[in-house]
Amino acid sequence: MKIVLLGPPGAGKGTQAAMLVTAFNIPQISTGDMLRAAVQDQSPMGIKAKESMDSGALVSDDVVVGIVRERLQQDDCERGFILDGFPRTQPQADALKHVLAGLDKELDSVISLQVETEALVERLTGRRTCADCGKGYHLRYDPPASDGSCLSCGGQLIQRDDDVEETIRNRMQVYHQQTAPLEDYYTKEGLLVSVDGMGEINSVRDQISTALQAV
Ligand code: AP5
Ligand code: MG
Repeated sequence: MKIVLLGPPGAGKGTQAAMLVTAFNIPQISTGDMLRAAVQDQSPMGIKAKESMDSGALVSDDVVVGIVRERLQQDDCERGFILDGFPRTQPQADALKHVLAGLDKELDSVISLQVETEALVERLTGRRTCADCGKGYHLRYDPPASDGSCLSCGGQLIQRDDDVEETIRNRMQVYHQQTAPLEDYYTKEGLLVSVDGMGEINSVRDQISTALQAV
């Protein structure tokens, strides 16, 4: 299964991608996670990307396409993959089509998660992530252990640098200007499935699973 998860910041792309990894045994390819790893490593690319990420702007298409192109060529993507947070611009979508064609592959489905703006802000301000294993939580909707540690590995939870309200609002504006037009792009390709992302995490998962059964 070759899937793109589309949706604004906080829509639940990472949360749903993690469940699809288990369901289909295919990798999650999150450009946000890969860029954050580069920032942490202080690689030249990470140092450059950090400035855009901290302001809520997009990292350049060239950089992100380069990362994804390399990742899609790895063996574990042979049976499929879940793209989380990529593509985010039309040039990225065009580049993805080109890269996949070169690998003799094409997308099966683009799932677009629909969530209201105020719910997004609440989700992002309450989000915490395990510093050790990367598992995501929400203080209210998907809480960690009672002592605040990770349920999977006992690690400490951290808050993302870009999960502050001003940056969140900027990320949303960037989404509406640069990424939302991809809904039309993939509708024209006959790939877009809109999913109501306002329900509980498991109910969104069930809707996605029903949509993918029809592929
Ligand atoms: P990225 O890491 O992709 O961030 P994003 O798109 O802003 O999305 P988020 O990760 O914030 O949200 P999500 O949809 O994954 O939600 P989650 O599942 O965590 O990108 C970060 C930055 O990197 C960008 O701003 C940009 O600078 C750069 N970048 C990345 N990709 C790029 C690209 N392709 N091109 C250029 N630049 C790029 O859920 C959020 C919270 O809600 C969690 O706490 C979760 O527990 C909770 N939750 C989830 N679902 C539900 C539910 N149904 N009900 C209640 N709570 C829920
Ligand atoms: Mg995410």
